[in-house]
Amino acid sequence: MSLKKSKSLIVFYSKPGENFCIGNVEDGNTKRLACMIQKELQCDMIELLPVESYPEGLDDFVEYALNQKEKNERPKYKNKIDSIEDYDTIFFAHPVYHSDIPMIMHTFIDNFSSEFEGKIVYPVCTHEGSGGNITSNILKRRLKKSIVKKGFSVYGQDVDLSKKKLQDWLKSL
Ligand SMILES: Cc1cc2nc3c(=O)[nH]c(=O)nc-3n(C[C@H](O)[C@H](O)[C@H](O)COP(=O)(O)O)c2cc1C
Repeated sequence: MSLKKSKSLIVFYSKPGENFCIGNVEDGNTKRLACMIQKELQCDMIELLPVESYPEGLDDFVEYALNQKEKNERPKYKNKIDSIEDYDTIFFAHPVYHSDIPMIMHTFIDNFSSEFEGKIVYPVCTHEGSGGNITSNILKRRLKKSIVKKGFSVYGQDVDLSKKKLQDWLKSL
């Protein structure tokens, strides 16, 4: 099914505040990228908002996120999401955290594992060097019943410069 005919949803997580290479931002890198996709596609979008407030400073946050990963935690999000069944295509947008997707996105996958079956998934990530291959492979492993396609990845600090690259990618889908 072409992207034009399919019903798309963007699911993303992103952290505002202090971040690598970009300083203090009101909207995180992935959020800005997700909003650019939303603007192009005019589709629905969900931002996963953690229930637990996280540490403010970057060093403390990095340790906090690492601890979540080491314990394989499933942090809860505040959003009430009934279903993703109505959508054919999911843009799964996330920052790379410790060579993984953020644990809150694993929570989302767990919650909707049966509904992901048969859906086309486009991994979209921002990072600071690890790129998207590692996390695409994680998504392929986690979403065995979905069709996980080649995604889009960009350095977090380059998000605001990536409109043309993003538009070209979306046009190619
Ligand atoms: C806790 C944490 C872990 C990170 N781990 C990686 C990593 O393993 N590889 C990488 O390339 N970037 C890593 N980064 C950088 C982020 O992926 C990058 O800054 C991203 O654009 C942040 O997105 P956001 O602003 O939407 O939260 C990490 C950042 C944080 C805060």
